[in-house]
Amino acid sequence: MQRIAETSIRPLVVNRAPGPLRGRLAVPGDKSISHRALMFASLAAGTTRIRGLLEGEDVLRTASAMRALGAEITRDGRDWVVTSPGARGLHEPEDVLDMGNSGTAARLLAGILSSLPFTSFMTGDASLRSRPMRRVTVPLAQNGAVFATRSGERLPMAVIGCVSAVPLNYRLPVASAQVKSAVLLAGLNAHGETRVEEPVATRDHTENMLRHFGVPVSVMENAEKGRVITLRGPAVLKARDVVVPGDPSSASFPIVAALLVPGSDVMIEGVGLNASRTGLFLTLREMGADLVIGNERVEGGEPVGDLHIRASVLKGVEVPPERAPSMIDEYPVLAVACAMAQGSSRLKGLEELRVKESDRLAATVALLEANGVSVRVAGDDMIVAGRTDGQMLGGGTVETRMDHRLAMSAIVFGLAGDRPVYVDDTAFIETSFPGFVALMDSLGAGIADDGSTNG
Ligand code: S3P
Repeated sequence: MQRIAETSIRPLVVNRAPGPLRGRLAVPGDKSISHRALMFASLAAGTTRIRGLLEGEDVLRTASAMRALGAEITRDGRDWVVTSPGARGLHEPEDVLDMGNSGTAARLLAGILSSLPFTSFMTGDASLRSRPMRRVTVPLAQNGAVFATRSGERLPMAVIGCVSAVPLNYRLPVASAQVKSAVLLAGLNAHGETRVEEPVATRDHTENMLRHFGVPVSVMENAEKGRVITLRGPAVLKARDVVVPGDPSSASFPIVAALLVPGSDVMIEGVGLNASRTGLFLTLREMGADLVIGNERVEGGEPVGDLHIRASVLKGVEVPPERAPSMIDEYPVLAVACAMAQGSSRLKGLEELRVKESDRLAATVALLEANGVSVRVAGDDMIVAGRTDGQMLGGGTVETRMDHRLAMSAIVFGLAGDRPVYVDDTAFIETSFPGFVALMDSLGAGIADDGSTNG
């Protein structure tokens, strides 16, 4: 696959951890919340300070795009500061907006651009250019915006925003927080009530943060329709400071590593505990994980806590399809846990995994098979055979397909397996978890000691 020019390939050999993983750590800021913080701050007139922003490549792409539209975004010590003329003061970007590897950046920004009165062009890296944009262009075209895409409704794409956007009434055909967010963001500049129905609840950071920026957003639970979210436009966002919690999706990698490497005892501080994101924690507990949540508090409007994880003997699990949206990014690393567990597991309703940074369903199966795990796909379910006595796991090559979460899952497999795992490229970890290998090594993983084959 063609890569973005500036990234060089970083292969890695990961050996079994030399001993238990031990220590305290904090994971980087939540990726979903970081994108939204930069975007919403750029829609608000005035100055917003953001603490704890994820400084991963995906989020930096969003920062560049918002700068190109007219916001001033700078780093000030630990904080990021956004000063903006507000949505009505944003202007046509001079060049193509390159969203790198980030589907969230591309799809949410499509929502914003669709109701601003100018034309923009958007592209991304080879992974993002292969992902479907139809899921946002179909609803957003109904509000009056015009999209010109490459074949298959893929990037690069032109967005011709509309001067007087029509408010949408939209029932989500796929369980996607990105699509929900795109429609709600388009609704900010439309005249009247925008209404989104989601049959299955997805992460609600957009609703929470719009309220934080002063936009009334109503959410009703309806037995027949699911969650119904409404807002009234035109809406004016008011600049408000934001605190970004630690990313539970990033935390999943040290969590699973600590559960699987015998004798480990790890504390992860300040992890976001929004109920629309914590399906993995519930699932791991069902598998017998010693995962204790303490010091629960609210920071910047989101629930946060400290996680204490001790190595555990895990058993197989059945994960229901309706839990998928609350742990959609965690299936590759959960599959690694299932491969090392006693008894087989069935992870159900994984159709959305096929359209992530890679086809994560196929790529996770390949990761496991290459390392001696028996796994199969039945419809949209993944069935992972647990570990049998005397089985030697590892020894395979993992193709990470420009997908950060596959790279980190492969590293976790290597730390807990019996034979070394060869990971073809770990460069994309920078999109969501800068410093991941160093952080794991600070717990005693010993990865960089013998694993770096190419800087
Ligand atoms: C995200 C939503 C999810 C998730 C992605 C981040 C968001 O995608 O996989 O990493 O910030 O809204 P979908 O909405 O496509 O499921």
